[in-house]
Amino acid sequence: MRLKDKVAIVTGGARGIGQATAELFAQEGAKVLIWDLLDEGEQVAADINANGGTAEFVKVSITDKAAVESAVAAAAEKYGRIDILINNAGITRDKTMLKMSDEEWDAVIAVNLTGIFYATRAVVKIMKENGYGRIVSAASTTGLRGNYGQTNYAATKAGVIGMTKTWAVEFGKYGITANAIAPGYTKTPMTDAIPDNVKQMALMTIPVGFLADPIDIAYGYLYLASEESRFVSGICLPIDGGYSR
Ligand SMILES: NC(=O)c1ccc[n+]([C@@H]2O[C@H](COP(=O)([O-])OP(=O)(O)OC[C@H]3O[C@@H](n4cnc5c(N)ncnc54)[C@H](O)[C@@H]3O)[C@@H](O)[C@H]2O)c1
Repeated sequence: MRLKDKVAIVTGGARGIGQATAELFAQEGAKVLIWDLLDEGEQVAADINANGGTAEFVKVSITDKAAVESAVAAAAEKYGRIDILINNAGITRDKTMLKMSDEEWDAVIAVNLTGIFYATRAVVKIMKENGYGRIVSAASTTGLRGNYGQTNYAATKAGVIGMTKTWAVEFGKYGITANAIAPGYTKTPMTDAIPDNVKQMALMTIPVGFLADPIDIAYGYLYLASEESRFVSGICLPIDGGYSR
C-alpha cells in the first residue's frame, strides 16, 4: 500500500476526478476526508467504508474561509495529522472574453484560486507541525496553453501553477512538497455538457486518440501524494495524452 495510514483531504471528492482519487487513495491505505458541497460525497464515503477502506464526508465549500479552518481543525483533532492535501475542487463558467460577466469571473476566481489559497494555508500549518506533507493541486492544460472561452479558468489554472512553485520554495524546509497536475480532457460531469462535435475536434488534438477517464488523473495524484515522489517539488505534470507536448 502506497499511502498506508496517511491522512488525506481530497477537495471536490463527491464526483469525477476527485471521487476516483478518494477511492484510489482509500485502496492504497489512506484515511480519506472527502470535502465537497454536494451531498453525493456521503455515498462515496459510505461505499469506501463498505469496501474496507476509511473515509469521511465533510460538507464544506473551500470558498468559506471560516468553514475551511474549522474543518482543518476538526481533522487535526481527530487524526492528529494531515499528510496529504489534494486541491482538486474546481469549476468552470465558460464565455468568450467579451461576453464574460463580472460574476462569471469572480465565481471561478473564488473557487479555483482563493479556495485553494484558504485550504492550503490552513492545512500547511498542521503539516508543518508534523514535518511532512504532500500538496497536489489541479491545474489544467488550459493553464498551460489557454483555451477558447476560458479567460477566467485559464487565469486560475496558471495561478495554481505559480502558487505551487512558490509553495515548493517556501515549504521544502518543512518536509512538504507542492506539485500540480494538468489534466487534459477527462470524462466527468464537468465535461459532460460539451457537445459531441466539440469532443470529436478535441480528440484530433490528442495523440493517444482517446479522452481520459478520472482514474487516469487519479494515478497522477497518487504518485505526487506518495513517498515515492519525495524528490519532486514545484512541478506541473501534464496528464493529457500528449496534447501539451
Ligand atoms: N474534466 C476535465 O476535463 C478537466 C481538465 C482539466 C482540469 N480539470 C480540473 O480537475 C478538477 C476536477 O474536475 P472534474 O472534471 O472532476 O470536475 P467535476 O465538476 O466533475 O467535480 C468537481 C467537484 O468539485 C466540487 N466543488 C466545486 N466547487 C466547490 C467548492 N467551492 N467547495 C468544495 N467542493 C467544490 C463539486 O461539487 C464537484 O463534486 C477541477 O479542478 C478541474 O478544473 C478537469
